[in-house]
Amino acid sequence: MRRAGGFLRDSSPAAAGWSAASGTAVAYWVNATGMPGPPPEYGSHPFLHPGGRVAWTKDRLEDAARTRLGGAKLIVVANREPYIHNLRDGAVELMRPAGGLTTALDPVMRACGGTWVAHGSGSADRLTADARGRVRVPPDDPTYTLRRVWLTPEQENGYYYGFANSSLWPLCHQVYHRPTFDPAHWAAYQEVNDLFAAAVLEEARGGPALVFVQDYHFALLPRLLKRARPDLVVAQFWHIPWPNPETFRVCPWAAELLDGMLGNDLLGFHTQYHCNNFLESVDRTVESRVCREGFSVTRGDRTTRVRPFPISVDPDFAGQYLAGDWEAPVAALRRRYGLGDRLLLLGVDRVDYTKGIPERLRAVARLLDLNPGLAGRFHLVQIGAPSRTNLPEYRALTDEIHGLAAGINERYGTPAWRPVVFVNEHAGPELIYPLYRSAAGCVVSSLHDGMNLVAKEFVTARDDEQGVLVLSEFTGAARELTDAVLVNPFDVDRLAAGLLAALTMPPAERQRRMRRMRAQVADHNIYRWAGTMLSEASKLVDHGPRPAAARVAAPRVYVPADDAALLTYPA
Ligand code: G6P
Repeated sequence: MRRAGGFLRDSSPAAAGWSAASGTAVAYWVNATGMPGPPPEYGSHPFLHPGGRVAWTKDRLEDAARTRLGGAKLIVVANREPYIHNLRDGAVELMRPAGGLTTALDPVMRACGGTWVAHGSGSADRLTADARGRVRVPPDDPTYTLRRVWLTPEQENGYYYGFANSSLWPLCHQVYHRPTFDPAHWAAYQEVNDLFAAAVLEEARGGPALVFVQDYHFALLPRLLKRARPDLVVAQFWHIPWPNPETFRVCPWAAELLDGMLGNDLLGFHTQYHCNNFLESVDRTVESRVCREGFSVTRGDRTTRVRPFPISVDPDFAGQYLAGDWEAPVAALRRRYGLGDRLLLLGVDRVDYTKGIPERLRAVARLLDLNPGLAGRFHLVQIGAPSRTNLPEYRALTDEIHGLAAGINERYGTPAWRPVVFVNEHAGPELIYPLYRSAAGCVVSSLHDGMNLVAKEFVTARDDEQGVLVLSEFTGAARELTDAVLVNPFDVDRLAAGLLAALTMPPAERQRRMRRMRAQVADHNIYRWAGTMLSEASKLVDHGPRPAAARVAAPRVYVPADDAALLTYPA
């Protein structure tokens, strides 16, 4: 039991319920005398569950966006767009990209409305947008605007493949993959941050706005926006880990990155540990006042609050794909790969070196070495969406996985049984959710991961309260999903033991663990993440008249000095 506001929250299985009709978890609260009731701080809130627990739902987020933003525009900036239009065989095809960020934020934008500014990366993106790059989405039921920003191949190469994914991605993920720092990539990164600043400022014209910047592609953007429009409220969420200061300081542009991020009013990370690392990095790198009690940084006359906001998923999303004949796509996959009716261990990832896919495959070999009786009894189905394939390390990883899978199948398999099935394709939710629902276990073996939303998606798909989650302890999700089978993916024996647990755990134990994980994700869902972050940021929205000095950002000039005037703008 945990104490909350003078009341005790009974988290024992008997005291936590699941409402199948609403798909939401109900946790029951008991007061000190053992009587059920709401925790006193919530009173009779309209979003109380029957058991008295405040729930964050789509409706509550909509309500919060309406009341808290009070007419201010919501502008989300993320490199990746939630809907990509591609040309295929002369026809326009809609694609939902793989990756947690877009999956998590799309329901938020559906609830709140507003504008999502992103790189228009699809081959038919220009065809489907208006002259200013705008298109209403979701295409079947439009609720918000997608504003596409066009990049040249050189800009995409330097900013996205270069600085974002060859410098910052390996720098922030401690997976022993050496980052490269190329001044040309850095120049492209600055140029594209400028370009996005101009697009956001255009979208924000004419009134108050809250700009919600996403991820490591835009470390410089918050400062650019604040310089041009001090009245904008700017919040950023960093979706990947923040490394310790020793690691971070190797970046030649460490000070510029931090200065850019200190343009934010509010800065979020998944965990307190990442917040601590960030404050340490600031303390050692730029002139500022770090307040460890209030968790904020003051640089010049501006203060940035730094807080953890663990991201999550929409718990009701799975339901759309688990109605009707939901088993049909799994049956088709079983036929296509000759899986029979054997148990499935499932991996769903972008093919990325942070995800620990080779480690997972080696653990399958180890499992078969230690348990020869399991031969012919299960498959590891690894869905691996191609990702960042312009980069040689991503292509090499794809080859490595194909090679490992072939080697394991050759060594342990038979003509009738291939232990590892590597599906190196993009798969949509209409296949992934039925697979989650059918699998004996889902394996998330990331070597380092800010959160990992596959783990949470898997849990939301298990309305049968079955299925075992094998989860790397180096993911943010491991802090919340403590009922998963937690493993160190670098330890092949422990990972193999995790796979064995997924294949052999008794149903009652699976149910006990899954029930608790479902309650956790139902409560700590994407609406809570967005609602708490936007509520905190919206306290700062000023609805008064806009300062006359506001203007669109002009190109930036860097001066080689570590002070508040690091960035200067010609008039
Ligand atoms: C991670 C990043 C996101 C990114 C996603 C997919 O989750 O934090 O910003 O969108 O990977 O990667 P991609 O490079 O395809 O956008």
